[in-house]
Amino acid sequence: MVAALIAALLGPLAPQAAALAPQAQAHDQDPDRAVIGGYPVRAASHPWVVALSSRDRFGSSRSGQFCGGALVGPRTAVTAAHCLSRNVLGVEPSQVRDLRVITGRGDLSGTSGKEIPVASVRVNPEYDSGTNKGDIAVLRLSSAVPQKSVIRMAEKNDPAYRAGTPADVFGWGDTTGSGSYATTLRAARVKVMEDAVCARAYPGSDKGTFDAATMLCAGVESGGRDACQGDSGGPLIASGKLVGLVSWGVGCGERGRPGVYTRVSAVAHVVRAQGG
Ligand code: ARG
Repeated sequence: MVAALIAALLGPLAPQAAALAPQAQAHDQDPDRAVIGGYPVRAASHPWVVALSSRDRFGSSRSGQFCGGALVGPRTAVTAAHCLSRNVLGVEPSQVRDLRVITGRGDLSGTSGKEIPVASVRVNPEYDSGTNKGDIAVLRLSSAVPQKSVIRMAEKNDPAYRAGTPADVFGWGDTTGSGSYATTLRAARVKVMEDAVCARAYPGSDKGTFDAATMLCAGVESGGRDACQGDSGGPLIASGKLVGLVSWGVGCGERGRPGVYTRVSAVAHVVRAQGG
């Protein structure tokens, strides 16, 4: 269990781990950061936000939460492909027998909402763990949620992808950059950034490469608002549509280091292939 947690903390990219220590201090004094620079939200108002859970792998104190996700069909949730990696789970996803999607539970220490067993998992066959391109997995649920709990996926050329569009990222992840995981659901208001800005922030080499075809990035110029470890797979919503999934970044909320998200419009075919 401990090994799995450490793996989850380190996440899929070594650069994140390297960046954790210095920026942890910057946010240490501020207990109210979550997601980074976020605010509490009610799960009932955002029913498509789900927690991915395995108590076997991650313990029961926070309902076994280890990643986020979004409901895109009554029996279909999406999350990040890297959430189902051996690196995060410690084992192959098929060996995790209590993989569940939790809906309607803002407070992970409680029992509200529903825990729905995952019937099958499809990791995007085009996902590349080296570059993080195509970071999406589709989860088929064993029972259906109401249609009103489902969020629409943005399509290619959706105006929501225009730079400057306000967007909200949701999750139960680290609120400080130093491993303090939230118990209750939070959101942070960011904005979609220009691809050129993202490319400049992540030109490659040791820190990861931004790929505009399969990723978008979002943040605020001054930093201080972002997703963080544990938010992966969770939704980025703009204009009432799902535009991104929390994927990677260097540190959390650092100036000049926006969060990088899976571009949902670029991977919608993976969802359709699963019958979602
Ligand atoms: N890979 C991380 C996870 O597993 C998400 C990192 C997002 N980082 C960021 N700065 N936006 O939870």
